Amino acid sequence: MSNITLPDQRNKDIKVWIDGTLYPRQEAKVSVFDSVVQGGDAVWEGLRVYDGKIFALDEHLERLQNSAHAMAFTDIPTNKEIKHALFETLKANGMRDETHIRLTLTRGKKVTSYMDPQVNQYGPTLIVLAEWKPPLNEINKNRQKGLRLITSSIRRNPPQCIDSKIHHNNLINNIMAKIEANAAGVDAAVMMDIEGYVSEANATNIFFVHGGNVQTPFADSCLPGITRGMIIDLCHEHGVDCSEKRISMAEMYSADECFTTGTMGELAPVAEIDGRKIGDGEMGPVTRQLREYHKKLTETTGEPLPF
Ligand SMILES: Cc1ncc(COP(=O)(O)O)c(C=O)c1O
Repeated sequence: MSNITLPDQRNKDIKVWIDGTLYPRQEAKVSVFDSVVQGGDAVWEGLRVYDGKIFALDEHLERLQNSAHAMAFTDIPTNKEIKHALFETLKANGMRDETHIRLTLTRGKKVTSYMDPQVNQYGPTLIVLAEWKPPLNEINKNRQKGLRLITSSIRRNPPQCIDSKIHHNNLINNIMAKIEANAAGVDAAVMMDIEGYVSEANATNIFFVHGGNVQTPFADSCLPGITRGMIIDLCHEHGVDCSEKRISMAEMYSADECFTTGTMGELAPVAEIDGRKIGDGEMGPVTRQLREYHKKLTETTGEPLPF
């Protein structure tokens, strides 16, 4: 660790929950026999803690349970057990704000390195990795100016291959797309679906505004993001015209506004895609307004921490 720079020094001595035990960072390890090592065979959620509350906890736990069930995990911990693990981890780290949690449930250890889940005899492994990560929009004011994106050559998996509604750890497509974005010197990559329509960005969902109408791709090939769902609901609640639809590349370039959504990065305006300026290249009024509505939700809702 001596010559490694952490993005946030406060994470140097964090404790990580692995199957009922809190380990210091240096000792937080899973077995080489674990399914996540053997095949990325795990499901996960990213959560945020704002001012003593875990935001949208029930929605995240529902998606985790559904993903684990779809992958035929056995002995899945109950939401009560998972909440206990989350609370204990946050308490041990003194975290009540500015925190991001990577919650992972793997199929567990195997008795030998076969792919076959029948050699999983230990039950799943639950990992709670909570880190200090203040909201990106607050620590990086450059994000106000808007992200620069490219279109990736890597397609998002269609449901014929793997259902994007399963929030699993096989993220290779998305990682390959991000590598293209890094090589191009931009912030992220837009992934198209197998038919060539917009799906999402490599780690976030994507929205466009066309003449006051907010649009986002159907969740056929993209993750049905919790933040995405909130934005659709907020639009309906506040009388903003919003629809899910197929969005082509040319429609993407000609949007008045574009923004990405995700628990980690919240709502981030997009200034440019493939060198084409989006709108006037500044954060637009609809994006700004939706950011305000979302911020209010983070301030007023969430599961209170019991400590
Ligand atoms: C591929 C992908 N898209 C979108 C999102 C955003 O989802 P959420 O709003 O639930 O954080 C994530 C976050 O996990 C993701 O991995």
